[in-house]
Amino acid sequence: MAFKALAAFLSVAALQVANAALTRRVACPDGINTATNAACCSLFALRDDLQQNLFDNGECGEDVHESLRLTFHDAIGIGSFGGGGADGSIAIFEDIETAFHANAGIDEIINEQKPLVARHNLTVGDFIQFAGALGVSNCPGAPRLPAFLGRPNAVAPAPDKTVPEPFDSVDSILARFADAGNFSTVEVVWMLISHTIAAADLVDPTIPGTPFDSTPGRFDTQFFLETQLKGTLFPGTAGNQGEVQSPLGGEIRLQSDHDLARDSRTACEWQSFVNNQAKLQNRFQAVFTKMTVLGHNPDDLIDCSEVIPEPPAFTGSATFPAGFTNDDVEQACAATPFPTLATDPGPVTSVAPVPPS
Ligand code: HEM
Ligand SMILES: *[C@@H]1O[C@H](CO)[C@@H](O)[C@H](O)[C@H]1NC(C)=O
Ligand SMILES: *[C@@H]1O[C@H](CO)[C@@H](O)[C@H](O)[C@H]1NC(C)=O
Repeated sequence: MAFKALAAFLSVAALQVANAALTRRVACPDGINTATNAACCSLFALRDDLQQNLFDNGECGEDVHESLRLTFHDAIGIGSFGGGGADGSIAIFEDIETAFHANAGIDEIINEQKPLVARHNLTVGDFIQFAGALGVSNCPGAPRLPAFLGRPNAVAPAPDKTVPEPFDSVDSILARFADAGNFSTVEVVWMLISHTIAAADLVDPTIPGTPFDSTPGRFDTQFFLETQLKGTLFPGTAGNQGEVQSPLGGEIRLQSDHDLARDSRTACEWQSFVNNQAKLQNRFQAVFTKMTVLGHNPDDLIDCSEVIPEPPAFTGSATFPAGFTNDDVEQACAATPFPTLATDPGPVTSVAPVPPS
């Protein structure tokens, strides 16, 4: 008995030593924080600066949405015809890359981030990816995204045509993602989870801030439900190329999202996210982790994910907006019926635009 107790005591002591070795943290020069790698210490001040001075004290608003879009437009600049991936080239060579059609409007967030980039000692690629991951942590329902340091600054701009456009065909979108980073067909759908916190300023410039779903401040599954409602393709008039009229007032739908929701290769994966918050979080975290290191060997980067806060939870269910039911769904997945969901009570309302910030 005594021996057993001693053995148990010794093995607990050994475990504690092993744990301490695994989680040994360094004290940061700020005298407040600790980190597993001293290189991550500088990110605490950047985190606070971004939250206060770019993200309006922790909102999931336009600046967060634009910062997430920027992570993509920088990272996807890679492939068989050139580009260095997530290397900051979009901001370093701003004059060149923001002139590309697909980057319309992205100069706004580049210029808002610029003074913060100047105040902090990070490469531009690291900054852009960190700002996006941090910003998303303000959105209820979001997964906690990773943050890495060590991407060298770009030495050349990315070429044009690396960023997909809303009027591109599903074939061309799948091919572009495969070329950029060996993304599979389902991973392309996972990438579009991002559009749950999104609005368009320039797809139809007459209605800036028009969201892609009814809850652009929440990282939920409504986007996948609402893109499956019957919608009308706009005639290809100048100014709204790639736009589909959503049946929900105040909402815009990209033709690319409309088509991905209906193509036989992607429709079932698209539908699988409706009312599946856990899958939404898991897959977006996985695909962002792949995207955020494009152009780099992950082994060369330092993992500073501990600096990203745990996002607020969202525990509600997906629902049809008032006035809509399962009858309004344009079923596209042949294998599985659309989930049966409740309808929001009350009168039919229009979705409010995302205010500029
Ligand atoms: C087929 C691929 C994609 C296409 C065609 C596409 C296209 C677009 C377009 C046209 C807009 C509206 C821009 C404007 O007029 O202001 C937009 C917004 C946005 N996109 Fe994408 N996108 C794609 C994939 C992605 C990916 C992979 C991400 C991130 C991982 C992303 C994140 C966003 C976000 C967050 C916004 C909202 C920006 C805001 O509200 O200011 N998109 N996208
Ligand atoms: C800036 O960061 C680099 C790389 O992490 C580091 O070597 C350098 O000492 C830092 N400079 C300042 C002023 O903190
Ligand atoms: C691309 O991804 C597939 C899995 O989707 C994997 O089997 C293959 O090895 C990858 N190819 C490259 C070049 O990384």
